[in-house]
Amino acid sequence: MASPRVDAELLAAHVLGVSRGRLVLLDGVDRTDRDKIDALVARRAAGTPLQHLTGVAAFRHLELAVGPGVFVPRPETELLVDAGRALLSRPDPLVVDLCAGSGALGLAVANELPTARVVLVEHDPAALRYLRRNAESRQAAGDPAVRLVDADVTADPLLPDLTGTVDLVLTNPPYVPTGTPLPPDVAGADPDRALYGGADGLAVIRPLVRAAARLLRPGGALVIEHDDTHGTAVPRLLVAAGYAEVADHRDLAGRDRYSTARRPPAGWKTAPS
Ligand SMILES: C[S@@+](CC[C@H](N)C(=O)[O-])C[C@H]1O[C@@H](n2cnc3c(N)ncnc32)[C@H](O)[C@@H]1O
Repeated sequence: MASPRVDAELLAAHVLGVSRGRLVLLDGVDRTDRDKIDALVARRAAGTPLQHLTGVAAFRHLELAVGPGVFVPRPETELLVDAGRALLSRPDPLVVDLCAGSGALGLAVANELPTARVVLVEHDPAALRYLRRNAESRQAAGDPAVRLVDADVTADPLLPDLTGTVDLVLTNPPYVPTGTPLPPDVAGADPDRALYGGADGLAVIRPLVRAAARLLRPGGALVIEHDDTHGTAVPRLLVAAGYAEVADHRDLAGRDRYSTARRPPAGWKTAPS
């Protein structure tokens, strides 16, 4: 546990139904609640992710339902939302989130850019259950512009009805090379399908970047998270797939973390090599 005190306070706040900041204002805690808090802290100390115990994960301005079977969104992925928004050139864009998991990227865009139409694609049954739940709470909040699609992003053709129409593809696909040792709390908590991308970590990324190139309209943009060892490999794949303006970016810890690129505008010609 990297931050045991904070985690214990968050679990106490969860049981008592108050924010963490209000804990100091409470007069006391009754026996039943104390037992519940002790039980949760013991599970956390044994390695259960905090978000599985509270049932929610914070992402941008959202609280997303999460639990066993779905990837818990990470703070570094929040950077992709700003990067994607900066690449938009229309006020009412069509945005596609591939490998959506709990819906973190796509639902954050829907929340922050109410004029956007957002399509979220996921293929894992357990992840889809959380995705539906999180999308439904947006729809209950009056946002009908969110569409969920159960599809394998490596299967061709992906979203054939959207070919050449998408303004922005955001994606955090599975990218860890199989066999990479991971901390026990990551390896034991997130589903393998969310983490591993084949022997070199690029098995999902390769077909995905080709599908995204077909989906994007000329000038449309792709923002893709990748393993910190792929700061050269993913930009190379993007150039090979015909993207322009390919760039790689670091996360707040200084690690290579995501790439951005555009589908060339109509009439754009690659320089002869
Ligand atoms: C690293 S998680 C990211 C989830 C979410 N985008 C986020 O950032 O929190 C990758 C997700 O891709 C899904 N996935 C893996 N392979 C897939 C495929 N071939 N087609 C569709 N989804 C896939 C997994 O089920 C998982 O939910």
